Amino acid sequence: MNARVSSHSPTDNATGPRGANAGVRAEDLTIHFATKAGTVKAVDGVSFEIEPGETFGIIGESGSGKTTLGRALAGLLKASGGDIHYGEHTLGKLPRAERQRLRRDYQIIFQDPHAALNPRMTILQSVMEPLEILKEGDKSSRQRAAREALERVGLAPEIGRRYPHELSGGQKQRVNIARTLTVRPKFIVCDEVVAALDVSIRGAVLNLFAELQEEFGITYAFITHDISVVSHVSDRIGVLYLGRLMEMGPTGAVTDAPLHPYTQALLSAEPLPLPGDQRDQRRRIRLEGEIPSPLAPPSGCRCRTRCPAAQTRCAEQIPEWREARPGHWVACHFADADGPPGPVR
Ligand SMILES: Nc1ncnc2c1ncn2[C@@H]1O[C@H](COP(=O)(O)OP(=O)(O)OP(=O)(O)O)[C@@H](O)[C@H]1O
Ligand code: SF4
Ligand SMILES: [Mg+2]
Repeated sequence: MNARVSSHSPTDNATGPRGANAGVRAEDLTIHFATKAGTVKAVDGVSFEIEPGETFGIIGESGSGKTTLGRALAGLLKASGGDIHYGEHTLGKLPRAERQRLRRDYQIIFQDPHAALNPRMTILQSVMEPLEILKEGDKSSRQRAAREALERVGLAPEIGRRYPHELSGGQKQRVNIARTLTVRPKFIVCDEVVAALDVSIRGAVLNLFAELQEEFGITYAFITHDISVVSHVSDRIGVLYLGRLMEMGPTGAVTDAPLHPYTQALLSAEPLPLPGDQRDQRRRIRLEGEIPSPLAPPSGCRCRTRCPAAQTRCAEQIPEWREARPGHWVACHFADADGPPGPVR
């Protein structure tokens, strides 16, 4: 994570370090949903690797498959094809008991901090709950771990006696983070975790994620449709469109010199936290129309119905996933190391 990190001493408590961390790898991952209207191809052959301790940003428009991918990465959805690897383990090949055991290491935090908390439970009870489910320790050790986690996310101990409706959105999201921390995860999928929060407190919550990564070596998949958030926190970025990766590379390379016309269009549509002159020099590229339905994705390149550079070949052939620059991957017939193709009309 490249967000600002403030220093503090690591603690060896219930939320403390727990051995070596593990990376996560998606291998040709496919998640299809059978519906009355047909098969929804929400995620359709996605491959990437997240290094231990890395923050991998996943960006894309609404409906591009981000949450589906995130839920699969956290082990909450079964793959229709391909697989997920947690370090040495291949999720689809693990016996059920082993999969259950690993579940605590791979967590997800969602956008709506209120929905995740039981309104009838005190905050302390909510934070203790994951340890109760795992039957870990006795009541007093669980209470101690919950209080330590609350303190670690910057909340006063008195908050533990309150109920969710008495807290602000930012405080509730910190409570969710504390809840997740009690089980000492190695990997957390953060799905739009600051989107519901007031803009003024987003930076502080993002910094908290960075501090926890520094302290506990947590690996993150950071899902967002907000380019300024993803470029603030991620080491690398993957751009998802209709269930497929269009581009992937180091954050600076993708945001400063994108290779894919779709990424270029996303970037030119968003106000980025870049010096004004850099942003103004960027050609504005409009994305025409809506994202098509994943029930019937376009043939060839999925972007072709909205891509200003589309040509006949784009409807006929699926673009190869290529490493056009070292560590910088793209799926476009006409992109090269110099950048994306220009508009043809
Ligand atoms: N359980 C399901 N059954 C059928 N279709 C689903 C299911 N879950 C998701 N989808 C569909 O899969 C596609 C991807 O959905 P997903 O929620 O992963 O997108 P997203 O990128 O997270 O969007 P948003 O930015 O709006 O959160 C959508 O078309 C959605 O309607
Ligand atoms: S393959 Fe064709 S449609 Fe797809 S991004 Fe490249 S130019 Fe556009
Ligand atoms: Mg989503």
